[in-house]
Amino acid sequence: MTRPVALVTGASRGIGLAIARDLARTHTVIVGARSAGALAALVDELPDVVPFVCDVGEADSLAAAVTTLGVDRLDVLVHSAGIADERRFDTFTRDDWRRSFEVNVFGVADLTARLLPALRAAHGTVVFLNSGSGMFSYPDGAVYSGTKFALRTMADCLREEERSHGVRVVSVHPGFVDTDMARMIRRESGREGSDESYVQPSTIAAGVRVAVDAPHEAQFETISIRPTLRA
Ligand SMILES: NC(=O)c1ccc[n+]([C@@H]2O[C@H](COP(=O)([O-])OP(=O)(O)OC[C@H]3O[C@@H](n4cnc5c(N)ncnc54)[C@H](OP(=O)(O)O)[C@@H]3O)[C@@H](O)[C@H]2O)c1
Repeated sequence: MTRPVALVTGASRGIGLAIARDLARTHTVIVGARSAGALAALVDELPDVVPFVCDVGEADSLAAAVTTLGVDRLDVLVHSAGIADERRFDTFTRDDWRRSFEVNVFGVADLTARLLPALRAAHGTVVFLNSGSGMFSYPDGAVYSGTKFALRTMADCLREEERSHGVRVVSVHPGFVDTDMARMIRRESGREGSDESYVQPSTIAAGVRVAVDAPHEAQFETISIRPTLRA
């Protein structure tokens, strides 16, 4: 019997890597990153993975990768690729705004739309790695938080549209997770904090697993996973 299929973007590092490793126990996993080299170790480590190499912020790159992939059934789509550009409002150029929205919002929307027929065919589940920044606003967060608020609204609208097609839509909102991204943000703002003040990527993967494995009559629409300790 063939295994169900999952596509995880941002699978070379951090949260996406943990989710890919966890889903690989039960699924064939298509793993995304911007270069094949970044995925080489994972491809060696796991027996049943397929690389999906593209820059999700570049329309031509994404379109070509989806065409090459050619899936007609997809059980799980996890959007973990993302960038966090956090700094004072008046330091952002129009190009900075554009790049963050291209990666965190437009690429996610484009990839989801292209794969919707395959998701509908499998009654699949779409998981958006959102953030606490998609719920709360704060200094330095205009661009990153702006992208994540947009992503939350997009997921909410998509969920309503897809109910009748049997596609579930899940937004996961982590607090600080122990990855390159969070370490960099907290280091640059002088509040790196203790190891215990980060959630582990494997814990986020466990949350995604609950949503994926839920009986199909139910969907975990919004999951917030935050550190117990404050930074
Ligand atoms: N870490 C946190 O505390 C935290 C909290 C809340 C939400 N999140 C969200 O969770 C997601 C994952 O974060 P993370 O901490 O795991 O980040 P990370 O450690 O920086 O990893 C980012 C991943 O995204 C990929 N990526 C980045 N830009 C890309 C692009 N243009 N095209 C394709 N892939 C791209 C990277 O691949 P390559 O660089 O290898 O190409 C890498 O696999 C993000 O959406 C982030 O906003 C993170």
